[in-house]
Amino acid sequence: MALTTDSATSSDPLRSNTARRVLSGMRPTGKLHLGNYVGALKNWVALQKQYECYFFIADYHALTTDYADPRNVAQNTLEVALDWLGAGLDPEICTLFVQSHVPQHAELHLLLSMITPLSWLERVPTYKEQQENLSGKDLSTYGFLGYPLLQSADILMYQADFVPVGQDQVAHVELTREVARRFNQFCPPPGYVPPTHAQLKETLVAEGAQREIPPGIQPILPEPQVLLTPSPKLPGTDGRKMSKSYNNTILLTDPEPVIRQKLKPMVTDPARVRRTDPGDPDKCPVGDLHKVFSTPETLAKVYEGCRSAGIGCIECKGWAADSIVRELAPIQERRARYNEKSAQEVLRDGAVRARKRASKTMAEVNEAMHLLPEAVR
Ligand code: TRP
Ligand code: SF4
Repeated sequence: MALTTDSATSSDPLRSNTARRVLSGMRPTGKLHLGNYVGALKNWVALQKQYECYFFIADYHALTTDYADPRNVAQNTLEVALDWLGAGLDPEICTLFVQSHVPQHAELHLLLSMITPLSWLERVPTYKEQQENLSGKDLSTYGFLGYPLLQSADILMYQADFVPVGQDQVAHVELTREVARRFNQFCPPPGYVPPTHAQLKETLVAEGAQREIPPGIQPILPEPQVLLTPSPKLPGTDGRKMSKSYNNTILLTDPEPVIRQKLKPMVTDPARVRRTDPGDPDKCPVGDLHKVFSTPETLAKVYEGCRSAGIGCIECKGWAADSIVRELAPIQERRARYNEKSAQEVLRDGAVRARKRASKTMAEVNEAMHLLPEAVR
């Protein structure tokens, strides 16, 4: 049921890509690495050309886990913004902003919290998992329980059609769909007159389906769909998955000598003990890097040379470094065209646009929740 990037971008006659909205966010973890790039950012760069895209840095989300020492949040936010611009997110064609610059996210989170059963949040799998994984932090807070609901607010705010995320976020989008459905049942659009009790009895509609808005009427908060980002296996320098918490990353900003240095001690196929032993790139983390970054020609040379012991691992790592350097060169060049000040200007312009879009949704939500509008003079 989740769409992959491919299936959603291929031409579907019923769905024109024009005016379809995409939203996604990233926590401000500081400088981004190759894993962030191939697992998300690269895909966003492709999506921005086909959809109306909103991408934001989830600094409120960072506070749900880093509240006890939030000193790095602002700097990390800026680093992420610079990496986004370097990677090729284009502020002329998509909207890039910081979550806390659009206070409507907090407002919608609060309103959605009114209708969201506690049990829905308690059963989100990441809730208990993260509490266990980050056992050094006290995550028994109200804010942390609300993490996925804040994410729902992020998504529903832009009445997004698609949310490009990795597998780990699918449960959060699923919750978002349930919250949207519940909101739409309690708060149908103003023009919609719900059937009377007598009419319902007559048509014998099943309990529960009673409140569903009939087809043809646009609910205020449409249910978004996951756009599953296919993420290739990307090992870090220690052979485990590349991750900031393992300290095994190659950063988008790493200069060429650092990249070469980081690859040198990388683990290889354990069967290749001596230079004369043949190896298998399919059992080697360096082989995995080649699969992601190298050209088909280089990849062919790697398979041939490794399996015949015709090349050594040092040479092979050099080629992997070449491929990564080639991928990162334009990114680093673009990043160098910005500085903290110009990145902040991009974020300010993005926030202006995002607030404008957000206030449209909030006007509809406030009305559907029957809050008294401010008097107009
Ligand atoms: N929870 C997401 C993550 O950890 C970040 C995020 C926050 C997000 N709000 C979002 C992603 C809305 C997509 C849509 O990666
Ligand atoms: Fe890995 Fe390359 Fe060595 Fe083969 S030659 S084991 S792919 S590093």
